[in-house]
Amino acid sequence: MQRFITALFLAFLLQGVLAGHPHVNYVRHRSRQPTSQVHPRAGTTYKLQDIYQGQSFFHGWDFFTGADPTNGNVDFVSQSEATSSGLAYVQSDNTTVIAVDDKSTVAVGGNRKSVRIQSKKTYTQGLFIADFYSMPHGCGVWPAWWSTGPNWPAGGEIDVVEGVNLGQTNQMTLHTSDGCALDTAAAFTGHTLDTTCASSGGDNSGCGVEDTNDNSYGHGFNIIAGGVFAHLWDDNGISVWHFPRGSIPADITAQTPDPSGWGNPAASWASSSCNIGSHFYDHSLVIDTTICGDWAGAAYASSGCPNTCAEAVADPSNFATAKWNVNYIAVYK
Ligand SMILES: *[C@@H]1O[C@H](CO)[C@@H](O)[C@H](O)[C@H]1NC(C)=O
Repeated sequence: MQRFITALFLAFLLQGVLAGHPHVNYVRHRSRQPTSQVHPRAGTTYKLQDIYQGQSFFHGWDFFTGADPTNGNVDFVSQSEATSSGLAYVQSDNTTVIAVDDKSTVAVGGNRKSVRIQSKKTYTQGLFIADFYSMPHGCGVWPAWWSTGPNWPAGGEIDVVEGVNLGQTNQMTLHTSDGCALDTAAAFTGHTLDTTCASSGGDNSGCGVEDTNDNSYGHGFNIIAGGVFAHLWDDNGISVWHFPRGSIPADITAQTPDPSGWGNPAASWASSSCNIGSHFYDHSLVIDTTICGDWAGAAYASSGCPNTCAEAVADPSNFATAKWNVNYIAVYK
């Protein structure tokens, strides 16, 4: 039994090494010394700049139809195909559904239809609030709510919501060019996965932080009707908060958000070890769901999913819960 467990453990480690993916990293550093430094400064007021919600939700987004850069088994469809196939639509209650095809059978190892949208507007800094009633999850499924700048990784990437397969906690990650690190002295509640944000050559894992709350991702997120992810991006740093549906601060609901009253974020990257202004600019906002590929595929077996990811992609019933249900995305300045 011990030998079996050791073999399992080695296989698990090897998965991470072989994956070579931006987002896979099992090294943890927990010797953090929290300080009193808190990213949001009191007294800043934020004004609503854009809100994507309701019947006009998709007016502000383009549908990306290129190959998935993370090698997923997906065909990202155009807006007209997404609309006619029921993969992107606004419901009569004003919530927006962004789904993976859960009706068609595809070949083992083939591609399944999915959606990736990116905002027409680009943003440099701001306070971003995303309210989701549900997010995609399940074996082979890899959803993300994120933003990315030009000339990756020069313009930076902020992964606000991301996970794979049967994962139960959200992973938040920055990707940058050289010279940006996560300062573990900043006050935040998540577990640090890696402190090197620079993504290049063989190491694309970025500087990730894992939420500690089981309501932050997948089934656990959906079963309580989701919640809000808020992230503040300014000269002092980038911080991400997660609020379960029942504990969304009243100032968020009232559209007068004040992050200085929200307590410690789940993740925070302070400007003390990363020049935010030079590493992050002109970001498009992105919502997508891919399948298998560099992370969900590589971590498939160690996630406790049956058979292979190539087999999972073939069966539409595996994607019944692979849906985003968006209340709104708001951007404040
Ligand atoms: C949906 O949004 C429209 C436009 O803002 C509003 O008039 C309508 O009452 C909303 N419907 C629901 C069910 O909230």
